[in-house]
Amino acid sequence: MSDATWPASWGDGTRVAHAGLPAPTVGQPFLPGPVFAAPYHLDPAAPPTSADGYGRSDNPTRRALESAIAALEGGTVRAFASGQAAITAVLLSVLRPGDTLLLPADGYYTVRAFTAGILRELGVEPVYVPTAGPYPSFDGVRLVLLETPANPGLDVCDVRSLAAAARAAGALVAVDNTTATPLGQRPLELGADIVVASGTKALTGHSDILLGYVATNSADLLDRLTTWRTQTGGVPGPFDCWLAHRSLATLDLRLARHTANAAAVAELLRGRSDVAGVRWPGLSTDPSYPIAAAQMRRIPGVVSFDLGGAERVTRFLKASRLVFAATSFGGVHTSADRRAQWGDDTSPGFVRLSCGIEDTADLAADLTAALDAST
Ligand SMILES: Cc1ncc(COP(=O)(O)O)c(C=O)c1O
Repeated sequence: MSDATWPASWGDGTRVAHAGLPAPTVGQPFLPGPVFAAPYHLDPAAPPTSADGYGRSDNPTRRALESAIAALEGGTVRAFASGQAAITAVLLSVLRPGDTLLLPADGYYTVRAFTAGILRELGVEPVYVPTAGPYPSFDGVRLVLLETPANPGLDVCDVRSLAAAARAAGALVAVDNTTATPLGQRPLELGADIVVASGTKALTGHSDILLGYVATNSADLLDRLTTWRTQTGGVPGPFDCWLAHRSLATLDLRLARHTANAAAVAELLRGRSDVAGVRWPGLSTDPSYPIAAAQMRRIPGVVSFDLGGAERVTRFLKASRLVFAATSFGGVHTSADRRAQWGDDTSPGFVRLSCGIEDTADLAADLTAALDAST
């Protein structure tokens, strides 16, 4: 059943389990296996205009994944080899010399590095604004890139009102939806022109693939992005697309546990006098809470806090039996990253903790023991 005919009453669990599947066909699998092909057979008597002529421009496994993500995010989707491939595709296919780009001062650091380096060299002026604001006038801005919740500080911004202001000033709006996933919020419905995301994180959730995607309702932007992808070649391979599609089926279940664990962990951390600066947009006391509660459909499993110094973070990570030291988030295993080691403008003891799907009581007990042992 195509998503266009889905009953409006279907919940997230039903939608992710069925997203992008072909109509049932006797003798065929539910989710067809990956199609491994660089060239495909062509019709020697016809011009090569149909889909599936060459793997860089077309692949049926990739199209199935794209239709699955589109069923959740809205718009039309193009998958890329990584989140960075997707984000840079948007920046480089939209922006031209002399343009101004407004982007988060507290967002994903590689995007900032790209804009401060290569993009600026190409004549595009980046203006960095904290996600929580205040936002300057959008007059003269070509593209506004928002990241909400911002990684790693977890501030959020009001996409609907910022998109309306940007549109009134003639600027395009792209929202990085990596941390929230399309089950957490749908920026296209909030007025964004483009969604960009890393599918490497919670969307696929098993820490085994790199993936990115762009979603848009604009035929013109879609055309530019498709041409960009075909001509620069940053496509994900069929096996990764198939793994991603397979993983998508459990997104609702995984996120439910991520959120439940994060709620418990945030409360636990907040109750400790030896842990400072606990941030989780689902805490009613968090500065992000009012906008997150109004805008988001669910709160992701990422919590941040400060252990006061790099040495204590090391002791904490060594003492934990469940928290992996790793620089990603959104996976089924709980992981933590000391962001200052990557150049984020965070204090030395700042930790981004990504809650996995372990049992809540086990995770809470492990964290408590590791924090106690690290003091
Ligand atoms: C918010 C955000 N956007 C984009 C990216 C880039 O994604 P990828 O690592 O898949 O290139 C990341 C990676 O951590 C991220 O956290």
